[in-house]
Amino acid sequence: MTDKITINVNGSEISTEPDQLIIEACEDSGIHIPRFCWHKRMDPVGMCRMCLVEIDTPRGKALVPSCTTKVSEDLIVDTESEVVKKAQEGVLEFLLINHPLDCPVCDKAGECPLQDQTMAYGPGESRFVEDKRHFEKPIPISEIILLDRERCILCARCTRFSDEISGDPLIEFIQRGNKTQVNTFPDEPFRSYFSGNTVQICPVGALTSTSYRFKARPWDLKKVSSTCNCCSVGCSVELNVSQNKMLRILGEDNDFTNQGWLSDKGRYNFEYLHSDKRITLPLLIDSSTQEISINESMDLISNEIFSQKTSSVSFIVGPNSTNEEYFALNNFVNDLKEKNDNNEDINIYFSDDYLYKGFFENQEKLGEIKDLDLADTIILWSQDIKDNLPTLYLRIKQAVKNGKKLLIFGHTNTAIKELTEHYFGEEIINKNFEFNVEISEIPDFEEFILDKNVVAILGKSSPIQDVEPITELFQYLDEKSNLKVLNAFSKGNTFGALQNIDCVKGLNEFVNEFDESKRNLVFTIGANPVNNSVLSKKIKDRLIISDFVVALDMFLNETTELANIILPTTSYGEKEGTVTNLEMRILKQNKILPVPGSALSDWEYWSMLLNKIDNEKLFESEIELNSLMCDGYIDKEILPSFENLNKPKNLDGILNFKPINIEIENINLINLEMLFVHRLYGDSSSQINSPSISMLGSERFIEMNYATYFGSYMLNNDVVTLTQDDVSIQVNVYINDSLPDNLIIIPINRRGFQNLDPQKKVELEVANSREQLSVS
Ligand code: SF4
Ligand code: FES
Repeated sequence: MTDKITINVNGSEISTEPDQLIIEACEDSGIHIPRFCWHKRMDPVGMCRMCLVEIDTPRGKALVPSCTTKVSEDLIVDTESEVVKKAQEGVLEFLLINHPLDCPVCDKAGECPLQDQTMAYGPGESRFVEDKRHFEKPIPISEIILLDRERCILCARCTRFSDEISGDPLIEFIQRGNKTQVNTFPDEPFRSYFSGNTVQICPVGALTSTSYRFKARPWDLKKVSSTCNCCSVGCSVELNVSQNKMLRILGEDNDFTNQGWLSDKGRYNFEYLHSDKRITLPLLIDSSTQEISINESMDLISNEIFSQKTSSVSFIVGPNSTNEEYFALNNFVNDLKEKNDNNEDINIYFSDDYLYKGFFENQEKLGEIKDLDLADTIILWSQDIKDNLPTLYLRIKQAVKNGKKLLIFGHTNTAIKELTEHYFGEEIINKNFEFNVEISEIPDFEEFILDKNVVAILGKSSPIQDVEPITELFQYLDEKSNLKVLNAFSKGNTFGALQNIDCVKGLNEFVNEFDESKRNLVFTIGANPVNNSVLSKKIKDRLIISDFVVALDMFLNETTELANIILPTTSYGEKEGTVTNLEMRILKQNKILPVPGSALSDWEYWSMLLNKIDNEKLFESEIELNSLMCDGYIDKEILPSFENLNKPKNLDGILNFKPINIEIENINLINLEMLFVHRLYGDSSSQINSPSISMLGSERFIEMNYATYFGSYMLNNDVVTLTQDDVSIQVNVYINDSLPDNLIIIPINRRGFQNLDPQKKVELEVANSREQLSVS
């Protein structure tokens, strides 16, 4: 800890860290300095001059930008002098030469720093009568972002974000002088996984989102803080609602997790909430589909559960329930087991191909995301991090920028190869994800780990890989370094399920344990395993022959179509609860929307069914469940109760642990011909029912290296027909020369790929037409 220094601001002494910028030191002491270009999560550029302050120098008083000037002992700063005020008025008058006065039709009005600061610090009137700049407006710079160039004040927040933070500099300043404008490059749209952050940080209405433009005025919005459930980072968000409709999601700055940033999936995946395709009443599917009441559905289901003939009950859970809901399900299952002599045949399976035992034995070894900032070396062996844990990718990128060394193993993170110190590809890891050499003999490895602070982000790269090599790597690192591990399970509230379900099995266990000689009752809970899994075909076969299937879901999909009863459920924003992120940080989700139709949250169904088993038992509320759930946490000092999580000091979440029991057998398949990967955008029910982003997951493509691609006569981006047995799909081909020979990357969460066998070869032929390339 460095010694603090004292500076004098506006006549008062404040104490500050020695390396801070004047703007930060003042901010920390409650003194606001107006600014446009400065953003605490980006490098300062001093573009706008709105933050000018007066300081005492040996040569007298001087105006300096407070966002680029550091504090020093006994520095005297004046943020309110007449000279400062005159400078602020000048900057604002200058900015308004060209900025249009279109606040009545601008989405930013009401929350616009330019509008607010003009009111607070502006000159009151302008001396300019000349014509302002005009541009064609708005121009779409991607499927989801629009640009009104004449509103831009050239602060470079968007360009710096894209360059420094997300690493895809697709938006830049072009032309010079009076003609300078922000724009994208010809034929290169702003296709970034993080583009929505530029809309949030643009200090004027130059960048807007298609999903929010002209939808609401900021003063009409109802707002609540919550936690995103798109991946297991658990980004802090603010939900914005008007007239009971979710209109916008903004990132909130949580120092432990997202630092204010969101992926576009997390930001724009909400329109499904108001889709007219939502299921709002229980559906009984017989020879026809009919709506029934909740009571009727509960009677039918409990009759099935207590039918003397039912001898196996399986629950396939998805990642979008709250901790309280997983806890309620676990209670229901335990009561069911007590009633049922044959305990073995009541099981909970988690719907994620990438789940395996992971590394949970030693709580001391479990890392936090902020450990990335303290590490010497970061080791990454997991699914594609940018697609599956996008804001964790931003944290890794930031750590690398600050000098941490990144080493990547395997073939899934090829897109961020340029960030690495060493990329251990084909010569070290074969296409089955096994080591080609002893770990101790990997060249240039030992020097990065021996006695160093290492954070290892470890997870399965392929759903069907042998997990032994990952364990070997963990053990080696544990021996040689000061190791912290982040288990890279990526889906929503996976860690909440692991913390609150006594025993979690995987989809492979469901397939293998399914005994068709028994009477089978299967529940699917916010899970669609008949799509997006390497086991989809086998799961579908089993659901078809099951005696009774109950699906808790919001939409009809490949899985609910096989159900006898569909129970309508709620989504995030419509329920209160907690979720656990990949560090075991428990964060709050808050309710701000009414529930559609007769939909209920999962826990309410489990409570009603529990009550059918035992008249005495009934969960009354999420608060009651939360308080019961808290009993199981190891650290009793800081329990993640609603009350604690609502305290200002705990808004960033509470770290706490529970014992974890994952019973998943290693899937040891060899001769991998295809590497199934999950892309950020796919064909989940929520995405295809969110019009703004539905088309982003529609492209079908595969990746391979040139050698695999039969020779160079076919060009990059060619369209080919991929055939395996009776499956035939037209796809774009992208060449990725970081891949090993004879390994083809297939996006499993895009329609059409589920029926491929990853161990069998596929045939590729140049396609005659491009008709089927995109799915809608
Ligand atoms: S578009 Fe917005 S964020 Fe980008 S430079 Fe212009 S004003 Fe700044
Ligand atoms: S905020 Fe300091 S120059 Fe823009």
